[in-house]
Amino acid sequence: MKEVRIGMLGFGRIGRLHATNLTRSVPGAKLVAVADPYLNDDAVAFANSLGVDRCFKDEAEIFNASDIDAVFICSPTGTHPDFICRAAAAGKHIFCEKPIGLTLEEINTALEAVKKAGVKLQLGFVRRFDHNHKKVHDVVASGKLGEAHVIKVCSRDPEEPPEAYVAVSGGIFMDMMIHDFDMARYQAGSEIVEVMAYGTNKINPFFAKYDDVDTAIVMLKFENGAIGVIDNSRAARYGYDQRVEVHCDKGCVQDGNDLIDMSMISTADGVTCEKPTWFFLERYNNAFIAESIDFVRAIIDGTDVPVDGHDGKMAVLIAMAAKKSLDENRPVKVSEVDV
Ligand SMILES: NC(=O)c1ccc[n+]([C@@H]2O[C@H](COP(=O)([O-])OP(=O)(O)OC[C@H]3O[C@@H](n4cnc5c(N)ncnc54)[C@H](O)[C@@H]3O)[C@@H](O)[C@H]2O)c1
Repeated sequence: MKEVRIGMLGFGRIGRLHATNLTRSVPGAKLVAVADPYLNDDAVAFANSLGVDRCFKDEAEIFNASDIDAVFICSPTGTHPDFICRAAAAGKHIFCEKPIGLTLEEINTALEAVKKAGVKLQLGFVRRFDHNHKKVHDVVASGKLGEAHVIKVCSRDPEEPPEAYVAVSGGIFMDMMIHDFDMARYQAGSEIVEVMAYGTNKINPFFAKYDDVDTAIVMLKFENGAIGVIDNSRAARYGYDQRVEVHCDKGCVQDGNDLIDMSMISTADGVTCEKPTWFFLERYNNAFIAESIDFVRAIIDGTDVPVDGHDGKMAVLIAMAAKKSLDENRPVKVSEVDV
């Protein structure tokens, strides 16, 4: 296969981002159709501007199209497992946004369908493709700093999402920290086996209405004996704060934020520099392109995808364990929720 013909399921915020990247920046990719039940004139005009004229309200049009090789699932999380099953049954390769699903039963069914069909499934854990986090990973994985002892992930959004988003998000662990659970596994090169979660509401009272918190810390124990900590805030007023640190036997490796620009002004009063870039579209734009390039390459070359269904399921299990830990105020083993 020289070209991968792609159908997009869900054409909202992240769907349009992937559509733009697939059209402009991913060699071998050809976006040929989009489907979204709430497609309006604006969305159709956007698709047309990318050269896509097959715009549907019924997602079945994508699954039934014999000329489509792969789908991008960019619809709300609740639809992911069903769409994975239907794409697999139609023999299409699958890129699925995080999280893979909200219930274990649905996730297991989806993973079975993928295995049976023999199609590729890549999960949208985009941060693994960020140049800073990847460098930290590569240094740790090279072994030159020795064994990893402590993994620290700081992940703070610039501002809280709208209440309507919070109402259906699945909560801070499933919606937001899920990226950081994956990042911690990726950096440690080991599974997380136990978590202890703390949470509080400091930013907006509406989070509590949905049994959610806006500020959280989760402590981690890894299978290889390393320990870790993740901190999340829904509102860092200075911008998107995304940092990783791995302390090892022979040293430490950490990264920093991408700043709006790299200028530094030094005066008698002090030294100032720019703030971090605003949010994920700015910070991770190149990473979104890189993950799509790897997905398309894996299909063309017949190689493994870099982030698979197992990674998707593990992050969900850890999120479930973190919520249980917060609710029950005790450490929870990940195996407790894997039933
Ligand atoms: N990787 C990341 O950093 C990242 C960032 C944002 C969102 N996401 C994930 O992407 C998914 C979508 O999030 P979003 O922010 O783009 O949301 P969004 O609400 O902006 O877009 C979702 C789109 O899906 C459409 N839709 C609803 N039901 C559908 C159906 N049955 N079939 C097809 N389309 C349907 C909606 O009309 C909407 O246009 C979520 O699972 C979210 O967790 C990932």
